[in-house]
Formats: sequence, C-alpha cells, structure tokens
Amino acid sequence: MGNISDPPGGSYAFSQNPDRARELDRLRHQALAAWPMEEAWLKNRGLADGMHVLDIGCGPGFVSEKLARLNPAGVTVGLEPDPELAHLAGKRFDAIPGLSLHQGSLAHNHLQESYFDLAYARFVAQHFGSPQAEMAHIFRLLKPAGQVVLADVDDGLTLVYPELPELLEVMRLSDKLQAEAGGDRRVGRKLPALLTAAGFTDVGFDILPFTSRQLGRHALFDLAWSFRLHRIEQLTGADNKRLVEKVKDFFSSQDWYGVTCVIAAYGVKQ
Ligand SMILES: C[S@@+](CC[C@H](N)C(=O)[O-])C[C@H]1O[C@@H](n2cnc3c(N)ncnc32)[C@H](O)[C@@H]1O
Repeated sequence: MGNISDPPGGSYAFSQNPDRARELDRLRHQALAAWPMEEAWLKNRGLADGMHVLDIGCGPGFVSEKLARLNPAGVTVGLEPDPELAHLAGKRFDAIPGLSLHQGSLAHNHLQESYFDLAYARFVAQHFGSPQAEMAHIFRLLKPAGQVVLADVDDGLTLVYPELPELLEVMRLSDKLQAEAGGDRRVGRKLPALLTAAGFTDVGFDILPFTSRQLGRHALFDLAWSFRLHRIEQLTGADNKRLVEKVKDFFSSQDWYGVTCVIAAYGVKQ
C-alpha cells in the first residue's frame, strides 16, 4: 500500500533535474505564453465560477492560480506529488481565496472521491508510466457529470519550415529520451482512446495550434525547441554537441515559420 509521499514514477523527475531554476522558468513561460487562448478554450468547454476544479500535476502552480482567479466563488485544488514543487505552489496559493495545494499523486492522495466538476491535467499525461491506470484515478475523483480535460503534446504535430534534417534528429532523440524515462511524447493522439477505455463518455478532442506568428518566433522556440536542445546538450558525444549548435544556429539566423499543437481531449463521467 503506497502513501502520499510515494513518487508517481513516469518521466517527470523535478528533484533529479540539475537545473531546477531553468525548469521553473520554462514552466512559467509555458503557462503564461498562450494563457489567453487556453482560457477561452476552457470556458468554451464549460469552466465556470462556482465549480470544484482539480489541477492535476500542478507543478509550481502558475496555471492553478489562473484557474482559481476564474473561479472565485468555487474551490480550486492543485495536486502535486513533488515535494519541492508542492511547497512552491503552496506558498503561492496562500494569498489566493479558494485555492489550495494537496500534496500527492493521482494514485496516492487524500482527496475526496466524486467531488470535482472539472479535472484538468496539462502536460502531465506525457509523463505517466501507466496512463490507463491514471485515467481510472481521475474517473473516481469526478462527480457524476464531471468533466476531465487532458491537454498534452504530440510530437507528430510540430512543424518548421524551411525544413532542416537535423530537426528530425532532435525530435527523434527527445522522443527516445522521454520514452526511456517512462513517458510518451506522442501521448496526444492516444488520449481519446484512453478516456473511452476508462469509461468516460462524450469523448472528443480539439487541436490547439500555436504558431510563430501568434506567439513570436522567440516564444515558440522556447516552448517547443529549447528544452529539447538543453536535454541533448547534456548527453555526451561530439555529434550531439554539433547537432545542437547547428539547430541553434538555424533558429537564430533563418526566417523560419513554425507551429506546435496541443491536443486537448475531454470526456464526461456519466
Ligand atoms: C511538465 S509538469 C506540468 C506542470 C503544470 N501542469 C503546468 O502545465 O505547468 C508535469 C507535472 O505533473 C506532475 N505529475 C507527474 N505524474 C503525476 C501523477 N501521476 N499524478 C499527479 N501529478 C503528476 C509532475 O510532478 C509535474 O509537476
């Protein structure tokens, strides 16, 4: 029998990240860069004031804070297993009415079952070691008629033009590194099937595109490419160093156009 301090497994290990300040910056940027589009999409899916909202794998809590500000008459809970991230989120949440931090994972927590109207997991499913089992945990936490929304990556939906063969190699390596750690950078396409198999109904998905024109090249590079290059830079081998240099040089010297897409899948607990 596990307890709430058990790490969830899968490919996200903040405590082992040698550059945690950089990772916090990346999460902040990823949370804020496209928030207006994300907010509009969530409202369209039914996010409304007065709800019980769960932010699964809330990290340092930037998005939980945004959710809580849209839900001042309701309850917003950030669920986070990593002790350091949970501590940072908890400090931030203190000042925000209706928002609280619950330290734990989907598998091990003391949250009330059948309590939440909306459970949101943003860039979390790509890290699940056992995605189907995690869907069952989400199902239990929702009220009847409650809704789950999973927004995540799918590396098949990231494009850049002009095409550079080295970019394909960067994608291949980052896919491989995350898979070796127990995650899946192509989880987006699998989300509707995972939700259906867990018993959710009215399952559907949208594709949310983020282009270099909308966000600016610099922001899109930061969101979709810089973390991959950083991981590859940490590998040994002159080939990897050359690859990173070539790709960085391309992004800084070319007039490139790009898009990355998030797959946002949803379902209802009947
Ligand atoms: C990439 S971060 C995303 C953080 C936040 N959702 C955001 O969008 O900024 C992934 C988060 O999911 C958490 N996580 C991973 N597996 C989890 C699980 N099984 N249950 C709950 N949280 C989990 C990690 O600890 C981490 O904080």
